[in-house]
Order: sequence, then structure tokens, then C-alpha cells
Amino acid sequence: MLNIVILAAGLGKRMQSDLPKVLHPIAGKPMLAHVLDNARRLNPDRIVIVVGHGAERVQQAFASNADLSFVVQSPQLGTGHAVQQAVPLLKQGGGQQDTTLVLYGDVPLVQASSLAGLIEARDGGMAILTERLDDPTGYGRIVRDSNGQVLRIVEHKDASDAERAINEVNTGILAAPTANLIDWLKRIDNNNAQGEYYLTDVVGLAVADSVPVRAAHAGASWETLGVNSRVQQAQLERIWQAEEARRLLEQGVTLADPSRFDLRGTLQCGRDVFIDVGCVFEGDVVLGDGVRVGPHCVISQAKIDAGAVIEAFSHVHDATVGAQAKVGPYARLRPGAEVGDEAHVGNFVEIKKSKLGRQSKANHLSYIGDALVGERVNIGAGTITCNYDGVNKFQTVIEDDAFIGSDTQLVAPVTVGRGATLGAGTTLTKDAPEGQLTLSRGVQKTISGWTRPTKKP
Ligand code: UD1
Ligand code: CA
Repeated sequence: MLNIVILAAGLGKRMQSDLPKVLHPIAGKPMLAHVLDNARRLNPDRIVIVVGHGAERVQQAFASNADLSFVVQSPQLGTGHAVQQAVPLLKQGGGQQDTTLVLYGDVPLVQASSLAGLIEARDGGMAILTERLDDPTGYGRIVRDSNGQVLRIVEHKDASDAERAINEVNTGILAAPTANLIDWLKRIDNNNAQGEYYLTDVVGLAVADSVPVRAAHAGASWETLGVNSRVQQAQLERIWQAEEARRLLEQGVTLADPSRFDLRGTLQCGRDVFIDVGCVFEGDVVLGDGVRVGPHCVISQAKIDAGAVIEAFSHVHDATVGAQAKVGPYARLRPGAEVGDEAHVGNFVEIKKSKLGRQSKANHLSYIGDALVGERVNIGAGTITCNYDGVNKFQTVIEDDAFIGSDTQLVAPVTVGRGATLGAGTTLTKDAPEGQLTLSRGVQKTISGWTRPTKKP
């Protein structure tokens, strides 16, 4: 049986925030969610989250996760005390195979592969995840005997000068045999510099009980970095984004500058995709073969098909773009926008809950909402679908091969028939029959003898 206990009761004072620390995001996702993603990859039998400060908000944020158990630690008397709160929930099959893995909610990037390695290193005993640091100040130090065997962990505040010179530190993450851990937790006390119940004291107890303690290391040193401040949060964000960028480069994606790339979700790319600088991808985004994304685009929850080009400063949210289509610069595709194959959407065109058919074009300054636009339709500059009367939304239908003159208002519900032409400036309130020219326009006149008003000197 594998239990995973995640410590998340701390205050996170240095974040200077009303939001509980573990809910602060890395790559658009709460730190605790990153920990959970990796925890779940180990197929645990139980996940217990120890909450305290901001307990309600943390539980609320994960309320829909049926596989999680929460325990409240109040007051917070130390990391050992925190794990003690989880003890009644730990699952045991009986025997040394039962494992309890302790993780921290504010160490968000530790990877499942490193955790699997730690559990394997346990090998019937206990394993701790350690790291060598140039500056170990503040961390618990790993004290070893002359044979290199781990003896105990000493906290920085309790350490002698000689112990403080040790640069192998405790990351806090450990894996222990469950029955032993429960027993050791009963035996720890708070006679130390901080008056806390230290989880780290179980290491000394294991050694005293002749349970072997082994040290393991994470695959990369950044995996065990913790977040105590906004500065550290920002550092981890950059580390993680660099990792995401590296993975994409290895898959064959071109990033104009990997250090100016942000992914807050998942990005699936076909072959030979090009992404220019300053783009942000959110939610689940799929880019087909040969897609090009220009600089400074925000693309979330979108599917963009092969060969499509999204030009600079475009915003695509909850929308799809067909193959070989062209979008932008400065285009905005809102939820429910479906741009067809080879269609063009130009600058300052906003499309919402509308289908723009194959090879249709809306190249300049338009609003298309709640519309069904057929194929090869030309939508002139400044065209607006008046889809909303203040209460209800209505649909506009524009059939294949229609030509909508510039500065036209389509007052929905209204239909423009196949091949119809609307004259520039038309306010269409009734259906336009197919194949014919429809226009509504005041008669042009010239007032002879009119003079401009002039300023009095
Ligand atoms: C702890 C370790 C130290 C290690 C360091 C790594 C102990 C005694 N020390 O020290 O060896 O080098 O982490 O960062 O374990 N927490 C609770 N309840 C509590 C106290 C803490 O849930 O009562 C949680 C915190 O929210 C945090 C984690 O446990 O996620 C670690 O607590 P923190 O106070 O940061 O421990 P350190 O003193 O840094
Ligand atoms: Ca800490």
C-alpha cells in the first residue's frame, strides 16, 4: 500500500498574500496541483493533504477531486506533528512493503520519476531525498558517520558549526515503511531550538531501530526547490517554462526565443511548427503541422489546423482555425468561433460563436457574432452583426458566395441569400434575396451655395 502525505498547512508569510501559499500558481496551475499530478502518477492507494492556514480555501479549490483526503492541522506544531495528523488515514496492508511518502505542497516541481526512484531506494528501509547546495543555510543537514551511513538530520537552528559546514541538505521529501513511521512519530518530541515536532527526527529513530536509511537524489536539482516568497515563485516559473520550451524544441518545434515563451496548460504540436516571441498558450492547445504563430499572441483552449498562420497580437480563446487559414494581425477569436479552411480574418475583426466558411474573408474591422457564414463570402470592412437587443441574442445567416459591402449592419435575425450582394452602408433588417443587390441608403444630395461656418476674429 502506498500513502502519499502532502504537507500544506504552513502560512507562507513571506508571500505577502491573502491566498494560501499552495494555491499560488506555477504555469497557471496551483503549486499543490503540480504536486498532485506527480503524486497520482505513482498510483497511490491514498493521498492525504494536511491543511491548516487557509484550510477551507485549499479544500474548496480541490473539492471536485474525489481521490483526496484532507486533515486539518491546528495549531501547527511542526512537520512531524503535521504528518501525525494524517496517521489515522494511512492505509496498511501489513509488512515492510507499506510505504508512506511525504511531500510538500510548496515544493511543486518534484517529478514522479524522482519520487519513484526514492521509493525504490527505500528497499525495505527508509529513504530521504537530499541535495548538495553551495549555500545550505537554513536547511536541515544530513549527518553521516565515517562510513558515509546516514545517522540523523540536524536542523540549521540546532546545528553546531561543524554540522553547519555540511552541504548535503534535507529536501524534506522522504519515503518510510508506514508501520515504523507511525511508531517513530509517537516517539518524537519538541525539545529543540524551535520548540517544534520535527519530522526529520524520525531519521535518528530509524537508525536507532536498525532500519536502514538511504539517501536518494532527484533527477534535476530544481525539482526540490521550494517556494517561500514571490521571488522564489518567479524563479521556479522561469525554470519550469524553460523545461517546457526545451521539451518542445526536442519535439521539433521552432521557438524564436525559448526564454520568451509561456505555456500554462498543454501544447500539442505537429511537425515544423513555428512560434514567435512573447506568445502565451493556455489550457489545451493543438497546433497542426506547419502552423506559424506570430509574436505576442495569446492562444487558449484552441485547435489550429495544418498550415494556418496566426499573425502578431492575435487573441484566440476557445476557438478553432481551419487548415491554411490566416488570422490577424490583431484579430480576436472568442468562444465558439470556427474559422474555416483557407479563410481569412484580418485586423480588428472580432468573431464570437460563429462559423466562417471555407475561403470566406473578413479582413478589416468587423464584429461577427452568432452568425453562420457560408463559403467564399466576402465581408467588407466595418461590417457588424447586430445580434443583441439588450436581452436576446439572434442569429445572422450569410449563405455561400454572398458579398457584404463595407459598413453594413445586419440586424439579426436576418438571412443573406446565396450569391446576394449588399451595398455599402446598408442596414439590413429584412432578408436579402439570393443573387440580387440589396441596399438601404439615403439619397445623396449636394446643397449648392452652402458655406462653412467661420470663427469670429
Ligand atoms: C523543513 C525541514 C528541513 C528541510 C526543509 C526543506 C523539518 C523539521 N525541517 O524545514 O530539514 O531542509 O524543510 O525545505 O521538517 N508544515 C505543516 N505544518 C507544520 C509545519 C510545516 O504543514 O506544522 C508544512 C509547511 O507548510 C511546508 C512544509 O511543511 O510546506 C515545510 O515546513 P517549513 O516550515 O518550511 O520547514 P523548514 O523549517 O523549512
Ligand atoms: Ca520551507
